[in-house]
Amino acid sequence: MEWPSCMLPYLQVRTPKDVIDQFSHIQTVIALTFNRLHSENARQSLAHNTTATSKLARNTHKMVKYLFWISAGLCLSLATVVGFLPEFSDNEVKDAKSDRYELYPACATLLRSQVNVEMHASLVYMNMAAHFDQNGIARKGFAKLFRKNSEEEREHAQKFIDYLNLRGSKFTQFNVDMPDKTSWINALEALNEAIVLEKEVYNQLNHIHDIAEAHCKDSHLMDFLEREYFEEQIESIDQFIRHASILGSMSENALGEYLYDLQLQELKY
Ligand SMILES: [Fe+2]
Repeated sequence: MEWPSCMLPYLQVRTPKDVIDQFSHIQTVIALTFNRLHSENARQSLAHNTTATSKLARNTHKMVKYLFWISAGLCLSLATVVGFLPEFSDNEVKDAKSDRYELYPACATLLRSQVNVEMHASLVYMNMAAHFDQNGIARKGFAKLFRKNSEEEREHAQKFIDYLNLRGSKFTQFNVDMPDKTSWINALEALNEAIVLEKEVYNQLNHIHDIAEAHCKDSHLMDFLEREYFEEQIESIDQFIRHASILGSMSENALGEYLYDLQLQELKY
């Protein structure tokens, strides 16, 4: 066996002290080499661990973020199913494959009901017109105002009947709530009642619109209500409030009502 040349100096033993010295030297070299290697490994290990730790933290952060959004999505879906769907889960909601031309039964029923609501309003105004046109009251201007509104309400009822026919449905029969009031203390009282009535009709129209959107999924019906009713209804409420405001500012005295009635008689409808 031949020793490597680098080892020869250590093999040339002359005295026991040389052996001890050489052994100590080898020990020192091994120790230094080991320490250097150990330090390098430790440094690399530390750097590696630091990088790995950062990567792990980033991945954990991403994972928590994804889990948050997934949980939020699941909660929202669950809330939708549990909270809202049951309201329309009784097989009464139009699905995408339904015949969209035909009125859905729930909406057709509401439209038939609205015919009666409009006719009720028409009769209320007809009663008011009849009251103010009596020769013992003689307020032709207010009679004219209420007659005009009575005709408008009847036209509204007719428009709903026409719409039912247009959509392949039909109006069945009248079931009108007949008005029982036939006299009013003064015109202001009648105007205030008209405001309440118009607001009720407007709210009912909005209810049909809401059902048409959420329940019947009927865009055409929604458009019909918006186009033919909402604007006019708001204007009617506004007009009645304006009449009541002016008349109310006259302290409800008979002369004020008389003068305002003369003004109403001149209005062109
Ligand atoms: Fe109306």
